[in-house]
Amino acid sequence: MSASPLHDPFVRLDAGGTTLMLDLRHEEASILYFGSALQSATTPESIAASLVRAIPPNAPSIEPRITLTPLMASGYVGAPGLALHRDGTSFAPLPRLMEVAVTGTSVTLRSVDAAGALELIHTLALDSETGVLRCAAQIINRAPGICTLDHLAAPVIPLPVWASDHIDFFGRWAGEFMTRRAPIPTGAVVRENRRGRTSHDCFPGAMLASADASERRGEVMALHMAWSGNHAHRIEQLADGRGAVQFGELLLPGEVRLAQDEGYTTPTLIVAVGDHGFNAVSQRLHQFVRTAIVDPSVTARPRPVHYNSWEAIYFDHDPAVLGDLAARAAALGVERFVLDDGWFGARRSDRAGLGDWSVSEAVYPVGLTPLIDTVRSLGMEFGLWVEPEMVNPDSDLFRAHPGWVLSVPGAAQVPSRNQYVLDLSNGAVFEYLFDRIDALLRRHPIGYLKWDMNRDINHPGNSDGRASVHAQVQALYALIDRIRAAHPGVEIESCASGGGRADYAILQRTQRLWTSDSNDAIDRLRIQRGASYFFPCALLGAHVGPRDCHITGRQLSMAMRAGVAIFGHMGLEMDLRELTDAEASELAAAIVLHKQHRALIHGGNRVRIDTPPERDAFGIVAVDQSEALFSYALLEGHPATLPGRLRFDGLDPAKRYRMSQLWPIGAAAGSREVMGDMLMLAGIELPLVWPQSLMIWHLQET
Ligand code: DGJ
Repeated sequence: MSASPLHDPFVRLDAGGTTLMLDLRHEEASILYFGSALQSATTPESIAASLVRAIPPNAPSIEPRITLTPLMASGYVGAPGLALHRDGTSFAPLPRLMEVAVTGTSVTLRSVDAAGALELIHTLALDSETGVLRCAAQIINRAPGICTLDHLAAPVIPLPVWASDHIDFFGRWAGEFMTRRAPIPTGAVVRENRRGRTSHDCFPGAMLASADASERRGEVMALHMAWSGNHAHRIEQLADGRGAVQFGELLLPGEVRLAQDEGYTTPTLIVAVGDHGFNAVSQRLHQFVRTAIVDPSVTARPRPVHYNSWEAIYFDHDPAVLGDLAARAAALGVERFVLDDGWFGARRSDRAGLGDWSVSEAVYPVGLTPLIDTVRSLGMEFGLWVEPEMVNPDSDLFRAHPGWVLSVPGAAQVPSRNQYVLDLSNGAVFEYLFDRIDALLRRHPIGYLKWDMNRDINHPGNSDGRASVHAQVQALYALIDRIRAAHPGVEIESCASGGGRADYAILQRTQRLWTSDSNDAIDRLRIQRGASYFFPCALLGAHVGPRDCHITGRQLSMAMRAGVAIFGHMGLEMDLRELTDAEASELAAAIVLHKQHRALIHGGNRVRIDTPPERDAFGIVAVDQSEALFSYALLEGHPATLPGRLRFDGLDPAKRYRMSQLWPIGAAAGSREVMGDMLMLAGIELPLVWPQSLMIWHLQET
């Protein structure tokens, strides 16, 4: 079977400063070019003609292509994009391109194998505003009998010719979004997440960079798989000099078995590319997230300043104390009060109560209403913590339904925070959870849910003894979608032991990410910087923590703690009774400053500045470059006698700005006029300050 003569030999899509060209001349489609916008006169024919590869000695006389789904049956000897079988046979499928449909800036390609037993569909779309690519692959079994799918990658992206380095995003609890840059080796960099949630340690994303790439300049590609379960990605350098990048769901044995006419679609792979450094690609992704991933009305409204009860009281709930904390929070300028873990069932510690989603009568004898009334009468919205996916063995729910948990027959549960994972793909579990959360939201004026998830899914077996991470994640999405549909005004935060479930798929149905359980401002600078490669700060919860950080024991000034939290979706998370008068007024001033500038902070372009390790610096620049905030923090002593200079970035070189220092309060008053080019090319000499200090400057076009 040959490719349909009805389609053109090439497809070209242009949007948002990006060009994508597909080569359809053969029986399998491949990416011919994906990068910064090409001239309209630069044709795919001319590119194809200049990319003809020689045939080396002792090699196949036709080089197997890196197609959207590279296939073993085509002779490809890198990692194939598709692996399946029918009870051990039909192990090397060979779908051939049949149909191509282009609509606006998207294309759908349909391929079918010779027997008509398998259909493979690729969809690729450039976001019309930002040029960000979204793509996915789908396989459909068209033959009788079961087809077991072991692997299907999202459309495979050829390694760009300029890519010499890869940036890995990894981390741990209270230490998310670390970054590591390394040369791409011959062979493959493979990252696999088998934790059943997005994970702290293996973020489903990576960046590729030219050797000279920095925040300011150089060629960069960012890839992210929008998925909250297991995944694998592979950056593969072939021995013949080519390379391929593939992202896919990591499927467990037997997890996807397709009966006739059943299909499986990969999670969506999102790719942004540019030639103006890391910042420009991140800004492209941020705009994409703000307009195409989260509900755009979320960031269009001012994001309310939070108070969260966790680090103040943990499980020690007392309505009188909470009323006092609410009054103190409101006086400081807080707009949303979130009651964290401990309000329900027998949840007096993390050993009991999960699953029993009714208010504890022991702690709240007359229910939550008086506290909610207090919070609302103080002018704040009320938010509530839940962890629907989990159950403590010591709970009424588990005693009644021990069979509702995911497990592996014969294997003891892996102990983890005294809790097991409910099987959300079980309809009874799903209905129970929906009913409980729906009842809470109907009974009380709750504007916000903090949706937590505090353990890995080590034993993802359902009651049929089948692997069930894929079904679990889909059921989770369906549950959140149903709650959102029933209560469209309720915002939801995605939390998983801090930032363990931060991805674009969860962001399609939630409105905030809890970035990390570390509220240590020094840690947070690095964590927020790492997260900013993929996520805009409007969606990243950033709280002012206690004076003595509960995670690191570090003691930090209010100026440092508040100065870091200003640049996120700001909140407070501490026992407000610990505040001295001076700290309280400094904190109130930080909240005023955040509110004054939050439209800029949450809507502007974040500009990371390359700095030596003992410092951190970045800016938020208005899209029209008329205004900016810049933050500089000295983390530890500098090697030279004086700190030296800081060069700004992202400004309009030809604009004149009035520059004033806003933070810490009481810093040198006064302002001066400076040109954008001066700040970016010459920079400013930094003042001599103590380590663990932070300052913020404001720039306003004159
Ligand atoms: C983990 C979260 O990350 C914390 O913020 C807090 O909500 C606890 N769980 C509560 O158990």
